[in-house]
Amino acid sequence: MASESAHPFPPGFNISTSRLRIIPFHPANQTHAEFLVQLWNTEDFINFCGRTSISTPEKASNFIQQRVLQQYSVNKYGMFLVSLKEGENTTLSPIGTVSLMKGASPDPHFLAPDIGFAVLPEHSGKGYAAEAAKGLLEWARTDRGVEAAFGFCDPSNRRSREDISGTVIETGHSVTRFKANDLVLASAQGAIRGAHIGGFQEYVVAEASFACLIPKYMKFSEGAVFPLCFTTASHALFNSKFLALPKPSLDIRPESSGKSVLIWGDASAVGMNAIQLARAAGLEVYATASPRNFEYLKKLGANRVFDYTSETAVAEIVAALGKSACTGIFQAAGAEASVKPCLDIADRADGNIFVVTTTPLVEGSVPEGVRAEMVFGNKHDDILEIWEKFLPQALFQKKYLIAPEPAVIEQKGLEGIQEGFNILRKGVSAKKIVVAAD
Ligand SMILES: NC(=O)c1ccc[n+]([C@@H]2O[C@H](COP(=O)([O-])OP(=O)(O)OC[C@H]3O[C@@H](n4cnc5c(N)ncnc54)[C@H](OP(=O)(O)O)[C@@H]3O)[C@@H](O)[C@H]2O)c1
Repeated sequence: MASESAHPFPPGFNISTSRLRIIPFHPANQTHAEFLVQLWNTEDFINFCGRTSISTPEKASNFIQQRVLQQYSVNKYGMFLVSLKEGENTTLSPIGTVSLMKGASPDPHFLAPDIGFAVLPEHSGKGYAAEAAKGLLEWARTDRGVEAAFGFCDPSNRRSREDISGTVIETGHSVTRFKANDLVLASAQGAIRGAHIGGFQEYVVAEASFACLIPKYMKFSEGAVFPLCFTTASHALFNSKFLALPKPSLDIRPESSGKSVLIWGDASAVGMNAIQLARAAGLEVYATASPRNFEYLKKLGANRVFDYTSETAVAEIVAALGKSACTGIFQAAGAEASVKPCLDIADRADGNIFVVTTTPLVEGSVPEGVRAEMVFGNKHDDILEIWEKFLPQALFQKKYLIAPEPAVIEQKGLEGIQEGFNILRKGVSAKKIVVAAD
């Protein structure tokens, strides 16, 4: 057993993210050893990573002592335990592991470490793995000078696949809305519901209720911009657990509800769909973006657009909302920093404004009296009719715009993915990167 002083990380070391605490493994800690046995013997872990010899806490403790601590000593990083932050409760609630691993010569090794994670099945599908990986990579960059990392994806890993478009090969016996040779876009829902409906493979079994015919004027690359962001925006706005707005329809007159909604970060893919959906539900839409995107967002239906980079944005929006009947705020932007202004607005504006976010809520950040929840873009009965009726009608009648515009990478196949990431890293605005399969 290793003593505290032999451990390469100081006592109490942890990497903190909004919902998670990432800590080093200790061979002498019984909870750590028992958790490793539990995690590495789940069906999920065995399917994706194979069965290990770690079947007892003693074996896990030896593994931590010999392998994990060695990685810490050589690379100054390695495999860490991921635990939920639970208020003032200091008891450890481990839910998974996140690791940054780099082999050394003469063993097989790459020039940069690779990032990996494993999460207990009951905690998967909530964005914890991505949050932990992001937190670890950020720490490794600032504290350890790690400027590059690989992310390897097992082609059988259903959790890495969501948006698809293509041609129907055949349909199930109860499917009436589609037939062979139809062109469709679909939400593969692989992250939540299983490999049999995951995307990123030559033939995908898509659920009919989360598929939509593509009109002739649309390309596959254009169809592929919708599924996840359309589903997420629909949940936030129409699911009875979230903003519960009246459902969108092509017959609804603009602003006929007499109510407004604030969508924050509308130049995101989720935001552009949220604008169009909220307008089709008869709401007045207040939006935020960089000034370069104001005109485009107005074209999509935003009534007023505020510059979120302005120091006075929150005050201006609070004043504007005061003159309208605001039903809620939807934070649709891809930045954690965009949650705080939404909470501030809900806190300062009149009424009890519900805030729905696409990104996690930082512990202790929600002001007293404000209701806030994070949304997940998964399957739910509340949004089925929006997929089945509203989206196809709106696309075929050209009353719903393809947004964001697809930015198609020239290099097709897996080789194009790196180019896509390079562009994403520099930052995209009002665009969705699309890589064609072949
Ligand atoms: N919970 C879920 O189920 C779920 C599902 C899908 C996506 N998401 C999350 O939803 C977010 C949006 O995803 P996306 O793919 O739609 O994003 P995206 O297209 O990558 O968003 C990029 C846009 O965000 C805007 N933006 C950046 N920082 C902002 C800020 N502080 N305030 C306002 N706007 C800001 C920028 O607008 P300007 O160019 O105008 O500056 C930029 O154009 C991501 O965090 C994603 O992880 C969650």
